[in-house]
Amino acid sequence: MSSQSPRVAVITGASSGIGEATPRALHATGYRVALLARRTDRIQAIANELGTGALAIPADVTDVTDVTDVTDVTDVTDVTDRDSLTAAAQQLHDEIGNTDVLINNAGVMLLGPFSPDQRDDYRQMIDINLLGAITTTEVFLDQLTASPGGDIVNISSVAGRTARAGNGVYAATKWGINGWSESLRQELLPDVRVTLIEPGVVATELPNHITHSHTKTAITDLYDKATVTPEDIAEVIAYTLSRPRHLAINEILLRPADQI
Ligand SMILES: NC(=O)c1ccc[n+]([C@@H]2O[C@H](COP(=O)([O-])OP(=O)(O)OC[C@H]3O[C@@H](n4cnc5c(N)ncnc54)[C@H](OP(=O)(O)O)[C@@H]3O)[C@@H](O)[C@H]2O)c1
Repeated sequence: MSSQSPRVAVITGASSGIGEATPRALHATGYRVALLARRTDRIQAIANELGTGALAIPADVTDVTDVTDVTDVTDVTDVTDRDSLTAAAQQLHDEIGNTDVLINNAGVMLLGPFSPDQRDDYRQMIDINLLGAITTTEVFLDQLTASPGGDIVNISSVAGRTARAGNGVYAATKWGINGWSESLRQELLPDVRVTLIEPGVVATELPNHITHSHTKTAITDLYDKATVTPEDIAEVIAYTLSRPRHLAINEILLRPADQI
């Protein structure tokens, strides 16, 4: 990256919540941003609003439908929709430049007590939250390492540090992200910094997809009262990325002030 060129940041799960607020915050400081998600209308509207230097690219970090169809999984490459991500990576390279920053944010939180009935939820969380982040990083790694100065930001959770009854598989995906991030950090330093962000409760759509009805009611009630906003988290991410290259903020755990 030349000192004159705007940095290019790619954000997965950019259609709502933290993933929507982050490109807004980065674009305001001069970044070019690529918004990746499945809800095309939403990312397109955000990109239109941001204007020059913002690109919406429909992309799925993993193909859940294929996963449920696969009966003999011998290789993770069998079950990921790498083609759509590879096409997205090439498109944004051609249209807004080489990727300097990848923010692995896409995720679902399908909470509920452990039960064989929730197996589809478990699959989705592992495939989107964990395997999706790994696959996206694989696809963008060449761009991120093309020259010194790259950043990878992985959005984990307090659940990646503290498991509770009812969040086991979600926590497992976030614990997985934490372990993988630390390994990646050591492998890619000093040219690419790897940062782990672990938020507590943030007011977003995250509980909307919970399938276990009692859990959904309880968690939605909790999220309705949430005081920390996606903009708060985006500000922290923007701050982290703005540090001089000799300083790497490896991990940030942040909660609402009143969260236990
Ligand atoms: N809110 C919280 O309290 C909280 C706390 C800790 C950590 N987090 C983490 O923060 C991240 C963002 O969540 P959020 O709270 O901002 O919730 P959100 O508003 O529901 O955002 C989730 C995003 O993930 C995207 N997504 C889901 N499946 C996807 C897939 N297969 N491919 C591509 N994108 C996909 C969604 O976009 P489409 O549906 O359009 O694809 C959406 O943009 C998640 O990793 C979550 O675990 C959130």
